[in-house]
Amino acid sequence: MTNLSSSSATTDVKVITMTDKTSVRPTAGLGSAGKSPAIAAEPVMDLTDVSVFYGDFEAVRGVSLPIRHNQITAMIGPSGCGKSTVLRALNRMNDLVAGARVAGSITYHGQDIYAPGVDPIQVRRHIGMVFQKANPFPKSIYDNIAYGPRLNGIKRRAELDVIVEEALTGAALWDEVKDKLKTSGLALSGGQQQRLCIARAIAVKPEVILMDEPCSALDPIATSKIEELMFQLAEDYTIVIVTHNMQQAARVSHYTSFFTAEVDDAGVRHGRLVEFDDTQKIFTNPAEQRTEDYITGRFG
Ligand SMILES: Nc1ncnc2c1ncn2[C@@H]1O[C@H](COP(=O)(O)OP(=O)(O)O)[C@@H](O)[C@H]1O
Ligand SMILES: [Mg+2]
Repeated sequence: MTNLSSSSATTDVKVITMTDKTSVRPTAGLGSAGKSPAIAAEPVMDLTDVSVFYGDFEAVRGVSLPIRHNQITAMIGPSGCGKSTVLRALNRMNDLVAGARVAGSITYHGQDIYAPGVDPIQVRRHIGMVFQKANPFPKSIYDNIAYGPRLNGIKRRAELDVIVEEALTGAALWDEVKDKLKTSGLALSGGQQQRLCIARAIAVKPEVILMDEPCSALDPIATSKIEELMFQLAEDYTIVIVTHNMQQAARVSHYTSFFTAEVDDAGVRHGRLVEFDDTQKIFTNPAEQRTEDYITGRFG
């Protein structure tokens, strides 16, 4: 059952049931001969005509796109075109920014995540986030992972032990840290810290993981480890990744959305979604000239 309302909410938010989705997965990335999906996997989330404002400033205008089940969806585009803004809107992270407001509709299994009575904390349990710069808590590796489950009321040590091991294994970090779980998370390397943050995100068993440029502070080896990990995670999770690295989007994602900023008559820049399609199509035969110009490096 997916219930996004808090237990105290009195409004009649629909309780929806997660049914097992049969999805046909396209193979991620261009390296895989770029097979297109025969049937598009079912969307877990849907954005319809989404605009995001900071005060009076409409940072992003009119974005519609699906986020498909157990697929990796990349968001690419030049700096300032609104990728992070849209990503944060997907789990109500913009709620934490004073003056930020979302218009249009963002649904999760058909349920509007901005509807009255929806609890943003519940939204973020289902839709987790990993940030650009790894941000472990100044706590032990163990306590970093156990933090979310404990908040959710899990107290038994044996149960937490299992969760911690599963999350660290799922984030391809267990073998490197299993003998030093009491060490501070801050003592790990940058790449390990980012995998710790991924482990922390998956410890509460979200369905969707949002990643905002998760590799931009990492060296190429740490980056390729995270990319490999993303492939594995896509077996169990739906991933949305913002990246300014087009090669990364081409390597790891099944679907790509290309954003750019357009200047309106009043001279104000608004982020716009130019094109959304299979990654293979975006990088080999995009429908829009602007996409082509961007991916071939003529613009951006
Ligand atoms: N907290 C904020 N307050 C006001 N404006 C913001 C805020 N965050 C982002 N913006 C503006 O929104 C636009 C999109 O920014 P952002 O989503 O960070 O772009 P990207 O991630 O594509 O680089 C930019 O014009 C940026 O200055
Ligand atoms: Mg950004």
